[in-house]
Amino acid sequence: MSDSIQIIPVRTAPPYRVHIGGGLLTRCGAILREDLAPCRMAVITDDTVAPLYLNTVCASLIAAGFSVCSYVFPAGEASKNFTTLASILEFLARENLTRTDCVAALGGGVTGDMAGFAAAVYLRGIRCVQLPTTLLAAVDSSVGGKTAIDLTAGKNLAGAFSQPAAVLCDTDCLSTLPASVYADGAAEAIKTAVLCDESLFSLFAAGRLTTDPAQVIARCVAFKAGVVERDEKDHGERKLLNLGHTVGHAIEQCSGFRIPHGHAVAAGLAITARSAERLGWARVPIARRIAGCLAENHLPTGTGFTAEALARAALLDKKRTGGEITLVIPLEIGQCTLKTLPVTELTAVIAAGLEA
Ligand code: NAD
Ligand code: GLY
Repeated sequence: MSDSIQIIPVRTAPPYRVHIGGGLLTRCGAILREDLAPCRMAVITDDTVAPLYLNTVCASLIAAGFSVCSYVFPAGEASKNFTTLASILEFLARENLTRTDCVAALGGGVTGDMAGFAAAVYLRGIRCVQLPTTLLAAVDSSVGGKTAIDLTAGKNLAGAFSQPAAVLCDTDCLSTLPASVYADGAAEAIKTAVLCDESLFSLFAAGRLTTDPAQVIARCVAFKAGVVERDEKDHGERKLLNLGHTVGHAIEQCSGFRIPHGHAVAAGLAITARSAERLGWARVPIARRIAGCLAENHLPTGTGFTAEALARAALLDKKRTGGEITLVIPLEIGQCTLKTLPVTELTAVIAAGLEA
């Protein structure tokens, strides 16, 4: 294997490896054979990714001894629902996948979340490998085992924790991403930098996120792997990875999912940082630095929705427990904390961050 491929172990039970580098999809069959015996592999992808990468993946899997079938669904968050999930499950059954077989999620976070959930519940759980093709999926969603679909009432409300058997991040896939989808991934990478890495943040703030994407992915994945190893099921530290997501998910929900996840998280991050500064929780000028970094990476720093509408949507989120909701508050770049508030205070907290 080429020296330029980085491998990051994730020490969950069972453990798995995240491979990062160029040319991985053309060699995915051989790489997966290092961890999996030949089996039937159901490749799940969307109708934008299929014409770009499905043939390459299937050819490589077949050459390595896997027997392959594929299912293609319409691209976009609107597909991440029960109807598509049910179609995937019926497909797996029609194709006679058994407990020793495997699902491959080829695509962005929508494909990864939904194919991962299908694998987690089909026959009470079969293996899944993640083949992320967006920056967002590479830096965040393909690692950590959170799988889900959206319900009418809110985002990711049905799902399962189910770690993948392997993750292959082929950085060549980034070359076909539209600029706005690339920016969605930048939002999650900036979130990671605000959580843990001032030097990474400075790189992004200087507009150098795209200079060496493999390095950026590796640093984000290494950080996330550590968090997931310590708190796989989101009981404590892992909640920090939701920085910007309470308001972000509310923005997605209020927009009827027309605003994509990464853009919504960016606005949620900027709004939360302004709230934290104005309420005296964070060190000035964190809000200006975060907004500057997001703008440099072609991301929004605000929203037209009202604090009341956002708070109503946020209270449908998983992060609410009884009469309280936990927010992730940035204190300074590289350091964040969890703050639990009565739900009655949420509108005022969001409102503080909406004023420019
Ligand atoms: P996505 O999967 O919808 O992909 C965005 C668009 O890019 C789609 O139209 C897709 O077809 C297209 N695309 C994908 N790869 C491409 C490529 N290489 N070239 C050209 N086009 C390509 O969205 P996303 O931004 O990747 O993921 C967002 C989803 O991820 C949301 O549903 C979010 O909730 C979820 N998410 C999950 C986690 C987790 O931990 N499980 C973390 C963050 C986000
Ligand atoms: N993206 C949030 C998490 O994986 O916990």
